[in-house]
Amino acid sequence: MVKVITYGTYDLFHHGHIKLLERAKKLGDYLIVGVTAEDFDKTRGKINVQQHLEDRIAAVRATGLADKIIVEEYEGQKIDDIKRYDVDIFTVGSDWVGYFDYLNEYCKVVYLPRTEGVSSTEIRSKMSALRLGLVGYAPFLKKFYHESKYVNTVRVVGVCAPSLETVVGLRKEVELYTDEYDVLLESVDAVYLHSHPHTHFKECKKALMKGKHVLCESPVAMTVAEYEDLIYTAKENKCIFMEAIRTAYITAFSRMLLLLKGGKIGKIVSVDATCTSLTSEENVIGSKKWGALEAWGPTALLPVFQILGTEYDRMNVFWLKGEMSSDIYTKLDFAYPEAVATIKAGTGVKSEGELIVSGTKGYVYVPAPWWKTDYFEIRYENPADNKRYFYQLEGEGIRHELVELANAVRNGKPDFFISRQVTKGITRAMEECFSKRA
Ligand code: CTP
Repeated sequence: MVKVITYGTYDLFHHGHIKLLERAKKLGDYLIVGVTAEDFDKTRGKINVQQHLEDRIAAVRATGLADKIIVEEYEGQKIDDIKRYDVDIFTVGSDWVGYFDYLNEYCKVVYLPRTEGVSSTEIRSKMSALRLGLVGYAPFLKKFYHESKYVNTVRVVGVCAPSLETVVGLRKEVELYTDEYDVLLESVDAVYLHSHPHTHFKECKKALMKGKHVLCESPVAMTVAEYEDLIYTAKENKCIFMEAIRTAYITAFSRMLLLLKGGKIGKIVSVDATCTSLTSEENVIGSKKWGALEAWGPTALLPVFQILGTEYDRMNVFWLKGEMSSDIYTKLDFAYPEAVATIKAGTGVKSEGELIVSGTKGYVYVPAPWWKTDYFEIRYENPADNKRYFYQLEGEGIRHELVELANAVRNGKPDFFISRQVTKGITRAMEECFSKRA
């Protein structure tokens, strides 16, 4: 029996894919198709893949041409697969000529003619991109704009900031608006808000009322009542309303959460998260300045609420007042029925920005800066049992946040990275802190 293997992403399955699989099948008696997993694609720069793995597998299966379907997850896997499945022929389309010659050592390599005039990339580029407006703190918007270029389902068309000096270089590429938020709203499908937290509610509401989707930095509102108003407005206007905490979209972080849910460190008893940065002009918008809690609170609260839930019994607030801002350092302690948590947020203060999750069998250690990490460790009593986990970090989570925004708009339902409950929990904690401090 001649065994043939071929690999691909098979996004938005098209007739070029079918032709390739038909030709591959004819090369032998048994066809194995490797479908590339999202993570592996990300490391190869294919961030725009539209369909999730199971949908792409289903499309390959539906052709009835594959005798076996496997998932390609890591660099070098092809050699392993060829040996494991005793493969005689490796084949791919002619766009890869020469690239896989190194596999000749293990089996025969055949490059099949590629079907002219069709590709997933082309189909994706024809799907209309979401027109996005960026609003708020200019230097960060510039970074956000550059990250958006990696995502072809989103196109930034305008930037609206109180001071445009830092984004002036973008003038040739996008429209710039100084204080004309309403004008910007007219020419976009969605907005990304990185403005002062106290203005979020007004800006979100205005956009949603006009039927524009919203991706808003956290906290999305300063009170739970405002948050609920926004959720209601989004629903009424059939809009996607997403909270933007980019850490949630970082592969290492989301994998860590999955491992914790799987019981890797036993029952979780404590979550301790610290986020600090030295004060800089960056935190100033006009005369308003982000306090430590406004700047870092939501990010630090994310692992606490994602791991322990939002139903805490008690929260204690300790804070140091700043000269220009509301606080320079805030510490929050949470008591849960069977766990505790602490977050520390500082601007103008430097500390070790680590995350530690303690359990009854071991603990997770995420080194500084944990909120943009590519690495974490699970440590046990016996150091020989410790395990290190590494993942690729691209764009600090911004690219994936944008991919999820575009997907959510297309599917008409929010993504699952940050649940409504967590967003509400963050808003509630912020409201409680600010009222305790007043
Ligand atoms: N393929 C083909 N003819 C096409 C497109 C793809 O023969 N018009 C082949 C590729 O050579 C590969 C397999 O189909 O062997 C899976 O390719 P994949 O990369 O998933 O599809 P593309 O359409 O090339 O995707 P992209 O544009 O994202 O690179």
